[in-house]
Amino acid sequence: MRDSQARTTYLKDYRPPPFTIETTDLEFNLYEDHVLVVAKLLFKPNDGSDEPAPNALTLHGHELELRRLLIDGKNLESDQFFKDDDSITIPGLSGLLEKPQQQFIVEIHTRIEPQKNTALEGLYKSKKIFCTQCEAEGFRRITYYLDRPDVMSRFTTTIKAERQKYPVLLSNGNNIGSGIDEKNPDRHWVTWEDPFKKPCYLFALVAGDLESLDDTFVTCSGQKVKLQIFVEEKDLDKCDHAMLSLKNAMAWDEEVYGREYDLEVYMIVAVDDFNMGAMENKGLNIFNTSCVLANPSTTSDSAFQRVEGVVAHEYFHNWSGNRVTCRDWFQLSLKEGFTVFRDSEFSADMGSRTVKRVEDVNFLKTVQFAEDAGPMAHSVRPDSYMEISNFYTVTVYEKGAEVVRMLSLILGQENFRKGTNLYFNRHDGQAVTTEDFVKAMEDASGIDLSQFRRWYSQAGTPVLNIIGNYEAGKKQYSLKVQQSCPDTPGQNNKLPFSIPLRMGLLNKNGIELPLRLKDEKVAESTDRVLTVNQETQQFVFLDVPERPVPSLLRSFSAPVRLDFDYSREDLYFLMVHDSDGFNRWNAAQLLASDIIRELQNCAASNSLQIVPPILINAYSGVLDAVLKPNELDKAMIAHLLLLPSEGSLIEQVEIANVDSIFSAREFIANALAKELEDRFAAVFEANSSDNPFKTDSGSIAQRALKNLALAYLVRIGSDYWVECCFRQFEEATNMTDQMAALRCLVNSDSKLAIDLANASLKAFYDKWKDEPLVVDQWFMVQASCQREGTLSQVKELLQHEAFEIRNPNKVLSLIRTFCGQNYIGFHHASGEGYEFLADRVLEIDTFNPQIAARLLAPLTRWKKFDPKRQSMMQTQLRRIKAETNLSKDVFEVVDKSTIN
Ligand code: PHE
Ligand code: ZN
Repeated sequence: MRDSQARTTYLKDYRPPPFTIETTDLEFNLYEDHVLVVAKLLFKPNDGSDEPAPNALTLHGHELELRRLLIDGKNLESDQFFKDDDSITIPGLSGLLEKPQQQFIVEIHTRIEPQKNTALEGLYKSKKIFCTQCEAEGFRRITYYLDRPDVMSRFTTTIKAERQKYPVLLSNGNNIGSGIDEKNPDRHWVTWEDPFKKPCYLFALVAGDLESLDDTFVTCSGQKVKLQIFVEEKDLDKCDHAMLSLKNAMAWDEEVYGREYDLEVYMIVAVDDFNMGAMENKGLNIFNTSCVLANPSTTSDSAFQRVEGVVAHEYFHNWSGNRVTCRDWFQLSLKEGFTVFRDSEFSADMGSRTVKRVEDVNFLKTVQFAEDAGPMAHSVRPDSYMEISNFYTVTVYEKGAEVVRMLSLILGQENFRKGTNLYFNRHDGQAVTTEDFVKAMEDASGIDLSQFRRWYSQAGTPVLNIIGNYEAGKKQYSLKVQQSCPDTPGQNNKLPFSIPLRMGLLNKNGIELPLRLKDEKVAESTDRVLTVNQETQQFVFLDVPERPVPSLLRSFSAPVRLDFDYSREDLYFLMVHDSDGFNRWNAAQLLASDIIRELQNCAASNSLQIVPPILINAYSGVLDAVLKPNELDKAMIAHLLLLPSEGSLIEQVEIANVDSIFSAREFIANALAKELEDRFAAVFEANSSDNPFKTDSGSIAQRALKNLALAYLVRIGSDYWVECCFRQFEEATNMTDQMAALRCLVNSDSKLAIDLANASLKAFYDKWKDEPLVVDQWFMVQASCQREGTLSQVKELLQHEAFEIRNPNKVLSLIRTFCGQNYIGFHHASGEGYEFLADRVLEIDTFNPQIAARLLAPLTRWKKFDPKRQSMMQTQLRRIKAETNLSKDVFEVVDKSTIN
């Protein structure tokens, strides 16, 4: 039996490292079937530790073949140290040193086999390219080291390889020398030096036959920076968008945060096989091709936006993550939450702010709220983990970003900027904690954040229960606010949070009322932030001439569930009048959700299902507005007209009936399509113009709206619209339109569409089979098909020539899309979906534990479903847990998700 406790690392056990590594000198000799690594490390006892340096040295190391080990130039015999699976220990250190208690040099020779590295951590090969991924604990697969982020060192790296196969040899920092191997002229070498101290998780190496798109950026102080994006030659035509995004991000960070780039060169390398989106290695980012490559014919609009966001995200890490890094992995949100906040503000500035907010919140509410309600729930700063790779979560990233967003709201723009300046200046070159971040905010603003800190330590999604009451006689309106937070694993009875509640009050004409709280002399404004910091609180507004409609939690000012008893009329009213664009969208979602639930009840009681006129009016009103020029932001309209996703509907209820949610939602969507056919048709026509393709936010919005209209129209099922859709599929000159049409065909029940869908899928594959990222999209459309029989389709696709189980993008496109997004398919009453996922997890765990563990998420959400499904899901989780050779990654997830 495994002992979960013994395998757990706790925040409370943190101790500073006994030694520091001043300099790290690496030499890599790359060969076809192995790599030889020589590391020369200059150690010093750590002055920052309260304990004296121990007389033993323990280094991390995993799956390494140790060839030689020397201390201060003297070879150690095998009886002078001992090794286990994860480390090496050299006892009796003082006896081995030239100058005990002083600095000493450890030289380590290891042999590794990157070609056989399928976990994609450490040094591995993606097709013909050598590349690395060291965050979080991958460096220990390259050499023995103090693989922890609070050990920061100056790195020099020499790479030696065959010239023909690996003309490009890259590492962090500046290129300080290169040449031909004198003994073997087929081989060459390059040396890189990184002048900045960094933890080893930011180390990177790349070797391959790559081409680059080059550009330059002149920083605010006039430094010229060389920008390079390295890709395979065939992809050179897909780098422009990433380059533009990079330059925009560099300028934005100077302007908004006063942060300048600090090396002579900034390099991005794209590889096909990568576990995540991208990695911020100092001066040498390594990217999943899916997050760099973009061009109109192969890339959809959402992927364009993702490239922009991820390029910016990794760039912003140069300050929030690299110059100021994390003390330990419990502090991961220090860099990730902050950097997600930074990249989302950047994207908001580049496109439509409200739309970006809607997208972010929609994601948070469906995915992060679900995580918070499940067995893997953890706080933004977790207090324990078995496998740190499992904590690169939506809670650490997205909820972490919300916490920083709340800070920026509470402090206000000016103080927040003072706070970030203080944080960057105070901690430059250090490895710090989320506490240091909050302290800097507190010191810079003078605002007491003691209670606010609970956002970092308490897990779970707080619930705000609000009751409004109007007293006509007193002309007073009051909000009674009650907060609570559900228990989460290991955390019961939470203390109250400090919650910024942004709000306004609207009169019956939709005019915003001045807000004057009791005890205030004058009204401050019509939009303000209330501080909710007790279990129950009352806010009384004076001089309120009539019963207002409150607009609460504007722009989603805190990551909480809001419970307020809005009538449908109020929601309709807010959808039309709220000055807060986010809340207009939210009102539309709440209205539709409420009606979907009513229809579910009708279906359950076998009573007649009709779509209430209020929803049809709401939708037709929005459609009328869009047909008038400049009435409303088109991107916003596309969101207003989208019914809540199944994921979001599931999230809103305690136990979800997947089948009835699906049918009710379909029923409403089909009814809306039929009722509003003329208007959807008009919107479709009005936005089908043949402008030259552009990816500015206006053009993206236009395509989104057109394709939304098309999706409704195809639901009508008439041959006319199905043919129109097919024509769009055939004639499209960009991937957004082509994919949208294909998706409609694949999901339609019309007989004509079913025939056309099969032919189109085939034609699409034949056209795009040489573009892996397009093939990924092709897998995704099929995996998300909501028609009966998708699981067998997915199983067949596993055998398709284009499917590669070792490539994370393929696995995620096919398997995760089906299990994580196709609710009706995955939760099929037979339980076959669950069994399928468990089989794949077990299969993938044998070679890539990170991906296997991440795939498991949908099974851990068992609490949300009916008892029969719960028990089938548990059965599969237990079946996995019973396996003997599970990775730590998968073990942690199944261990926490199974009940006995
Ligand atoms: N640090 C990366 C990012 O968010 C994510 C990542 C984590 C990549 C672990 C690879 C491995 O920018
Ligand atoms: Zn990041």
